[in-house]
Amino acid sequence: MFDITSIRADFPILQREVNGKPLVYLDNAATSQKPQQVIDAIVDYYSRYNANIHRGVHTLSQEATDAYEIARKTIQEHFNIAHPYEVIFTAGTTHGINLVANGFASFLKKGDEVIVSALEHHSNIVPWQMLCEKTGAVLKVIPMTQEGTLAMDAYSGLLSEKTKLVFVNHISNALGTINPIEKIIELAHQVGAAVLVDGAQACSHIKPDLTALDVDFYVTSAHKMCGPTGVGMLYGKEEWLKKLPPYQGGGEMISEVTFEKTTYADLPHKFEAGTPNICGGIAFGAAIEYLNHLGFDAIAAHEHTLLEYATNELLAIDGLKIYGTGREKTSVISFNVENIHPYDIGTILDKLGIAVRTGHHCAQPIMEFYKIPGTVRASFAFYNTKEEVDQLVAGVKRAQQMLS
Ligand code: ALA
Repeated sequence: MFDITSIRADFPILQREVNGKPLVYLDNAATSQKPQQVIDAIVDYYSRYNANIHRGVHTLSQEATDAYEIARKTIQEHFNIAHPYEVIFTAGTTHGINLVANGFASFLKKGDEVIVSALEHHSNIVPWQMLCEKTGAVLKVIPMTQEGTLAMDAYSGLLSEKTKLVFVNHISNALGTINPIEKIIELAHQVGAAVLVDGAQACSHIKPDLTALDVDFYVTSAHKMCGPTGVGMLYGKEEWLKKLPPYQGGGEMISEVTFEKTTYADLPHKFEAGTPNICGGIAFGAAIEYLNHLGFDAIAAHEHTLLEYATNELLAIDGLKIYGTGREKTSVISFNVENIHPYDIGTILDKLGIAVRTGHHCAQPIMEFYKIPGTVRASFAFYNTKEEVDQLVAGVKRAQQMLS
């Protein structure tokens, strides 16, 4: 039984008002709200055992180290990863992608090819363009369809023995499309290419089994899944992480330092230079425990009901068009209303206490494909309700009346 009232009571922010109206938070694809259990983990760390990790003999340092390493283990088990040292703590998805892109500069030569998809967030485009500039590798793009899905036939045609790496998101942040990553990985492996999947938008909705996926790299951020900002994880297969050079030099990532030569620490520390976001890592673990306590099947079922209901209700509005109509989709609805700028709708919705994102959603190539400046994006989480969908629909109608 999915008890939405008691789930909402876990999120203190959902009790607040915005512009004199109860908050309707529909910007979950930008960042999720945090339950009391995660907030408590943060307060507990700073109130009781704040200390640096992996370096102190004293009790607080050992307690902090244990909690941080338990969080790594929680992440490992959640994603079904073979070894805890294949989990690298990062500052977030963007950091994880840059870490891999930077390391791949040592493996690529002029004329090699790397493949991106047309549905990517800028963070999964720009680091690879920088890599191509450095190495002379060529960037190829899997095209998209009008429905906002990937043209998989075209993908097959792009693959060859020149392909070294494919990077694609699990779920599009701008449209909500769930990409067929199983097939993308299988086909890439047939030509010997590695695959990086950007899971930033996926992990609050589904629980990826990284061993079953056989993916080479998977990156995500805690803040999209009820954890804090500034922390995330990079999963890499052991053989890749061993080959990949470190991204940043500093303390903690070394085995031995002299002025002549430095040797690097073993995994995962080779990639974790400097004092990490200790509290963030611990709270990331608490967020994963919270989501698993609700259960991902129950989360998906509730979000699917919201998606279907909201899609039907919004489509009943004259002149409203939804972008991203693929069959495999998560609870994100990107839309425009004829002759009205998305920003104007977002501003009126905010006056009504309803938070949505407007604009290009850091995915300008998608907007260019549809020849639009941007969209209004309502993104639903498991703590949203049908009544909130009704408020969104009423708000869009109100905006339409005021602006047309
Ligand atoms: N990538 C985040 C979004 O889609 C910020 O809004």
